[in-house]
Amino acid sequence: MPVLTHPAELRLWCERVRASGLTVGLVPTMGALHAGHLSLIRRARAECDRTVVSIFVNPTQFAPGEDFERYPRTPAADLALCEAEGVGMVYLPPAEAVYPEGFATRVRVVGPVAETLEGAHRPGHLEGVATVVAKLLIAARPDRAYFGRKDAQQCALVRRLARDLDVGTTVVECETVRDPDGLALSSRNGYLDAAARAQALAIPAALAAAARLHEAGERDASRLIEAAVRRLAESPALSVDYAAAVDPDTFEPLATVTGRCGIVIAARIAGTRLIDSVMLGADAGLAIGNVGCPSPRP
Ligand code: PAF
Repeated sequence: MPVLTHPAELRLWCERVRASGLTVGLVPTMGALHAGHLSLIRRARAECDRTVVSIFVNPTQFAPGEDFERYPRTPAADLALCEAEGVGMVYLPPAEAVYPEGFATRVRVVGPVAETLEGAHRPGHLEGVATVVAKLLIAARPDRAYFGRKDAQQCALVRRLARDLDVGTTVVECETVRDPDGLALSSRNGYLDAAARAQALAIPAALAAAARLHEAGERDASRLIEAAVRRLAESPALSVDYAAAVDPDTFEPLATVTGRCGIVIAARIAGTRLIDSVMLGADAGLAIGNVGCPSPRP
């Protein structure tokens, strides 16, 4: 399994794959791979001829004071996992290959999908994500790119970006993978001690409370959010950044739920910020606690 470190190598490798009539699936990650990432890799392997995993802790998506230095970095274990999963190539660039001397471009998506919720609470974060993902999509030109639904706003932002920049990539939003207790897998879960983790379980429980109410027929978004907030309040150590009901594509707030609706939550516990989401509506395809992963391609 080749490990490439420069954007020009990424471009060439993907060009060669496409030139031989095969499709490329890209799984962008910041490493510290867990079962959530593996589910993206397995989906990519099931749907594409060759799978590329990128591993890059992107400095531009961390605001000053956030956990960039502390963010887990486990490249040896990540490479071993990719090899075991049958990944075709890993792109593992150093920061200076992605952002060389003089780099002066930012990709900024506008509108609620970029400016509300995560956009408002983490200034610069989504611009950093858009910039690095645009660079990956432009260099690799993958047929499909895979993202986890836990980061629902990131998924919507990348869908918008891929459409607007005509990159020709289908953005695939994959089901959130959860631990048996319901907590969505995240590289940041490792920051939590047992007490903080117990409090954090209020987040999936709050999403489940909103989902249950919706299932029972409630369509007033404010009542769904009230139910979620009531459940969050049972964990007093949680400090809630937001709990909102949004259109899952535009991230405009919803008053009434007539079709698909994203319930999104961000909260802090003992210095760790966690986000999670659930999709409601006809084709939502999500059940809290659904941990199924498709099998890899033989
Ligand atoms: O979700 C992530 O891990 C990152 O935001 C991404 C998409 C790899 C961009 O750095």
